[in-house]
Amino acid sequence: MINIPKGTKDMLPKDSFKWRKVRNVVDELSRKYNLKEIATPGFESTELFVRTDGESSDIVNKEMYTFLDKGGRSITLKPEGTAGVVRSFIENGLGNDVLPLKLFYITPCYRYEKPQAGRLREHHQFGCEIFGANSLASDVETILIALDFYKGLGIEPTIHINFLGCDECKAKYKELLKEYTTPKLDDMCEDCHKRYDTNILRMLDCKSTECKSILAGAPKVTECLCEECSTKFENLKKSFDSFNIKYVVDSKLVRGLDYYTDFVFEFIDEDKTLGQNALGAGGRYDNLVSSLGGKPTPTIGFGIGIERLLLYIESKGIELKDDRQIDVYVASLTNDVQYVFKFVKALRDAGFATESDLMNRSFKAQFKYADKLNAKFVVTIGDDEIKEGKLSIKNMQTGEQVKMTQEEIMEFLSKNV
Ligand code: HAM
Repeated sequence: MINIPKGTKDMLPKDSFKWRKVRNVVDELSRKYNLKEIATPGFESTELFVRTDGESSDIVNKEMYTFLDKGGRSITLKPEGTAGVVRSFIENGLGNDVLPLKLFYITPCYRYEKPQAGRLREHHQFGCEIFGANSLASDVETILIALDFYKGLGIEPTIHINFLGCDECKAKYKELLKEYTTPKLDDMCEDCHKRYDTNILRMLDCKSTECKSILAGAPKVTECLCEECSTKFENLKKSFDSFNIKYVVDSKLVRGLDYYTDFVFEFIDEDKTLGQNALGAGGRYDNLVSSLGGKPTPTIGFGIGIERLLLYIESKGIELKDDRQIDVYVASLTNDVQYVFKFVKALRDAGFATESDLMNRSFKAQFKYADKLNAKFVVTIGDDEIKEGKLSIKNMQTGEQVKMTQEEIMEFLSKNV
C-alpha cells in the first residue's frame, strides 16, 4: 500500500462539514467586510519567496519545497500566502483601482517542517491582505476581521501584539540588541550566530533554552520607538481597550518573516493545548510592494492555519455542528424505476436534499440507511403505491405516517422542511 506523505492530511468525508463551516464563515466575513477573493498559483518563482520572506527566515533557509522544472527554472511551492498576493497586486496593476483593496484567500501552503500536532508540511491558510491604507482604522479592522472569523467558529484567542517601529526605530533597536548580545554571543546557539550577522531581530524568536534565557534580559523594541511610532502603538492599544479585545504586549514578538514593518501580532492559545500556540498571525508590511517593484503601498494582513484551528477547536471540546441534513429519503421496491427516478428528480428540482436507493437494497435495509443518514422524512414507493397514486410519507422524528399524492407531498414538504 502507498501511504500519505509525511506531514500531510486527507480531509476525510466525516470532516468535510467542518471545512464547509470555515468556508461559510469566510464567505459571510467577505460580505460584511467587503473582502474580495484572490487565488494565486500553488507555485511561484523561488526568487519571489527569497525576496519577500527574507534570506534569513527559517522558511527560506530550511523549509521550502524548491525544485528545477523541466525548463530549468527554480520553482517553489507556496510556503505562505502573502508573497503571491503581492506579486499579483503589482503584476495586475490592482493598485490602479480605487484603494483600499481588501483581499482574502484560502490556500494550501507547503513547508518542510518537523511534523507534529498542528504542524504540517501541507497546511491551509485563510488569509486576508488590505492594500493601500495605513491608518489606525485599517489596523483595527484587520484585527476585527480575524476575531470575527474565530468567533464564527466558537473561539476567542488572545492577541499578542508588538510594535517594531519605523526604519529608524528598528535600526536603533538592532544596534541596542547588538550591544547587548555581543558579550554573550559565545553562549548562544549556532543559528543565533548567523542571525547576529543577517537579521539580529530574529534572535528574539530563538527556541533554544539558553538563548531564550539570555534574551529574557534584552532591551525591548518598544523602548526604542520614536514619538510618532509610540503614539501609534498607544492609540492601537486604546482602540483594543475600547472594544474589550484581550491583548498582551509581547516585546519578544518579531515574527518569522522579514517583511513586517511596525505593528505585528499573533493569535495565541494561552493553554498551549497543541504545543503550537499560534492560531494565526500577521502584521503590517508597508515596504513590501515597493521592494518588489510596485508603487509604495502600505499593507496589512494575517494568515490563519485551518488544520491547526480545527484541531484546537476539537481539543477544546467545541462541537461544530453539521447543519446539512437529508430532507427526504425515497425508499423504493418496484420494477417501475422510471417512476422513482422522476419523483426523486422532481424533489431535487424543488430544492429538497434527497437520497434514494442506489444499491438495490431491501425496504428494511433502506429504512436503516435512511435512519443512518438522519433523513427527516422517508417516502415509500412500491407497486401498490404507484397503482393507488398515493405514496406513504413517514416523519422520522415522530414516526407519524400518512399517504399522499406526489403533489400533496411536495406541498407538505415545502411547509415542513
Ligand atoms: P505564519 O505565521 O508563518 O504567517 O503563518 C500563519 C499561520 O499559519 C500560523 O499562525 C499557523 O496558524 C499556520 N501555520 C503556519 N505554519 C504551519 C504549519 N506548518 N502547519 C500548520 N499550520 C501552520 C504567514 O504565513 C504570513 N503570510 C501571515 C500574513 C499574512 N502576514 C501578513 N499577511
